[in-house]
Formats: sequence, C-alpha cells, structure tokens
Amino acid sequence: MTTTQTTVPPGPKGEPFIGNAREFVQEPLAYLQRCAQEYGAIMQIRLGTTALYMLSHPDHIEHVLVTHNDRYKKSRFTQRRKSLFGNGLLFSEGDFWLRQRRLMQPTFHAKRVASYGTAMVQLSQQMAANWHDGETLNIHDAMMQLSLEIVLKTLFDTELADDAQKIGRVLNILIDQVSAAAVRPIQFPDWFPTSGNRQYNAALAELDAIIRQIISEHRRRETDNGDLLSMLLHVQDEDGSRMTDKQLRDEVVNLYIAGHETVALTLAYTWLLLAEHPDVEVKLHEELEQVLAGRTPTMEDLQRLPYTEQVITEAMRLYPPVWGVFRDCKVADEIGGYAIAPKTVVLLSPWVVHHDAQYYTEPEAFRPERWDKASKQPIPRYAYFPFGGGQRLCIGNVFAMVEARLVFATLAQKWRFTLASHEPLELVPTITIRPKNGIHLIAHRR
Ligand code: HEM
Repeated sequence: MTTTQTTVPPGPKGEPFIGNAREFVQEPLAYLQRCAQEYGAIMQIRLGTTALYMLSHPDHIEHVLVTHNDRYKKSRFTQRRKSLFGNGLLFSEGDFWLRQRRLMQPTFHAKRVASYGTAMVQLSQQMAANWHDGETLNIHDAMMQLSLEIVLKTLFDTELADDAQKIGRVLNILIDQVSAAAVRPIQFPDWFPTSGNRQYNAALAELDAIIRQIISEHRRRETDNGDLLSMLLHVQDEDGSRMTDKQLRDEVVNLYIAGHETVALTLAYTWLLLAEHPDVEVKLHEELEQVLAGRTPTMEDLQRLPYTEQVITEAMRLYPPVWGVFRDCKVADEIGGYAIAPKTVVLLSPWVVHHDAQYYTEPEAFRPERWDKASKQPIPRYAYFPFGGGQRLCIGNVFAMVEARLVFATLAQKWRFTLASHEPLELVPTITIRPKNGIHLIAHRR
C-alpha cells in the first residue's frame, strides 16, 4: 500500500457524535454540492457513526457501477423497510437478483415497451380532456396521477379506475414514511407504535390487499395479455419453477414505486422548465408541428423528435428524479489514491455531478442544445447518470424515456403552461427529489 492509501478523503469537520448529520439533513443537495466544490471529487461526511464517501468524478462513478461493481452492493443506507420492498428487484442481491432480473428483462425490451405506446398516449389524452383553458393546475399531482394510471395499465393491465386514486394515496403515505425514515438517525422497527408507523402499517395492509386482488384476477384469466404481470405469471425458470405469490407481490410493489413517481417528476419538472423558458418552448412547438402536424404521436414518431428528447434529457440533468445512488463496499478497494474499506457507504450523486461546471458550461442554465448529437462539447459518459449504470442500471429506463416523450409530445401539442407564481421552487430530497409545495402552472389550450 502507498502512503496516500492510508489517508481518508477530506471533508467538513463534524460535531461530536452526530458528525455532519445536522447540516446534511437540513438541506442535503446544497450541502453536498458545497462540499464537493470545497473538498473535491472524493470527499467524506460523517452521519453519526457512518462514514459516507461521495465520489463525483465520472471515472470513479464508472469504477463503482461498472468496472468494479463486484466490490460493491446496494447500500444498507437505502435498504430499509423490508416489509414494503420485500425481496424485489430494487434491493435483492446476488444470484437471486440475477435470476429475477433475467426473468423480468424481456418485459422491458424496446419492442415490448413499444406495445405500451398507444395506452400511454390515450391515457394522456383522457387526462387532458378534463383540463380547462386558463385553469391553474398542480402539474406535479396531475403527472403523478397520469404515470400511476400508465403503470397500472401497461404493467398490470388493470384499470381499476376507482382503485387508482386509492393506490396513489396509499403509495404516497408509504413513500413519505420510507423517505422520512431514510434520513432519520434513529430507526424504529415497524411494530413500534409511533404515529408514522401506524400510518405506514395501515397503508401497507391496504396496498397488499389491492395487489393480492390484482394477482388473483390475473391468475383467473390465465391468458398472457402482454402486460408485465401476465408475463411474470407465465415465465418459468430453467428449472421449471415459477414465482411464488409473495415474490410476485414484491416485484409488483418494487415496480410501482420505482416506475411511478420517477417518471411523474421528470414530466413535472420538464413542464416547469418549459414554462420558464419560452424560447425553448417555441423550438419544441416548431418540431412538434413539423413532424406531427396535429396528429396523435406514435412510437414511430419518437425518432423524428430529437429536440423533444433533448428537452427531457436536459430536464433530468437539472432535476434528476433520483438524487443519490448508494453502495456499500464489500471488499477493500482503492479509488483515486484513497483506500475504500469494506462497509464504507459510497454515494454517487446525479444531482451533484449534473450540476458540476467541469462538465457543463453554465450548469444552472436549461439548455437542451447541449444534447445535440452534433455538439462539439462531448459530455463524459458518467457525468450524466439519471438511471444509474452497469448491472443495476434502471430496468425501466427505456420504458421511462418512451413514456416521458410520448406523454410530453401528446400534451405539448395541445397545451402550454405559464407560471402561476414566481415563488422559488422548494425541493425535498428524500429518495427522489420532490417539489415541496407542488408545481402550479396555468394551462392554456393551443
Ligand atoms: C425517469 C424515470 C426513472 C428514473 C430517473 C429511474 C432511476 C433509477 C435509478 C437511478 C436506478 C438505479 C438505482 C441503483 O443503482 O441503486 C433505478 C433502478 C431501477 N428502476 Fe428505475 N428509474 C426510472 C423509471 C423506472 C421505471 C419506469 C421503472 C419500471 C417500470 C423502473 C424500475 C426500476 C427497477 C426495478 C430498478 C432496480 C433494477 C435492478 O437493480 O436490477 N424505473 N432506477
């Protein structure tokens, strides 16, 4: 070992016992950004007894996610609430994870995703049919509702119109509770009678009952309707075994949670940025008019809508729905001259890297042109990683990008939005980055 390996990465001085937890919990995003600027691409903070190393160089991100991913596993930092996530794809590990990932991967292949396109467009149109010219909408709520309906229809072939709102409400409670626990220094077990736990347990029972109903309906149908759940019910492993109901339940919950809010946030922030940047809006409308000329968009149109994609890509740079990817080191590693000891928590933050002036000129500016394929300023591969990377790359990334572009192209053709207020946007970074008070925009029919 060289002498540099024995040194720990630089970082802010902490308080006794709690380390840097106070500042981190108050405003994690701004705090981490400041720390990266002050201490560099490898730095550490301490949260209680846990040392957290933040790596912000694209090569180091690639090291952890791709080239040396066998030295890391999903972090205990985010693996809380087994009662909700169970042994689903998000947090399972090793051979079990690999088996499940292989079983589920075909459902997310581009061809399969293409077959969901029509439903994505139709559900968007149905939602907008209830909007009125000049009304103020909380576009965050609207996109949450829409993305939930899309997940229900495409992945579970369930309309359950009455249940959609119930699921939305129940998921909100669960995600709120999981998120609150994620940043709480003391963890209470689920049975501990705090008011949060009571709400959590009641919501979990409700969600499990709905999912049981969806699964048993599918079992009764005995046909593969092309949705994910039908496929999961029918796929067999090489050894002929099928997924148990418990495992199906876990995968369904994981997909609901991973696939619903992330896309809704992408869309909500895109609408906000568009309302704030009329010049971009004009260019977007030009592209939509030229390619679609008022027609309902289809999957085939997507490749002819490059600017639409650039707008969404840039929105996800500025507001990556998942702000942090966490890993625990499994075996001793070395990165950039620093030793990474087993059990160290490693944080790779799309938020911090996406806002880094080393990779993006004027990083705070909303500039979809950065993503123009002819751009002379290439962006390093892992300076942009809203979907993570490597083996554990988001399984829904193609689904998400198809959904975001189709919904956006469908709605932006007929509607535009202006700001309903000039209040600064307050962000709540839990597992995702949510707008604290929603996003209120005035809808205008085009
Ligand atoms: C814009 C939308 C989305 C974003 C930003 C996003 C982001 C991410 C990220 C960063 C990861 C990696 C986490 C890690 O490595 O620790 C991930 C994993 C995952 N995502 Fe997504 N996601 C999105 C949409 C979706 C959708 C639509 C689905 C499913 C319908 C989905 C399902 C999953 C699953 C199951 C995993 C775990 C994969 C595994 O570990 O094998 N995501 N996502």
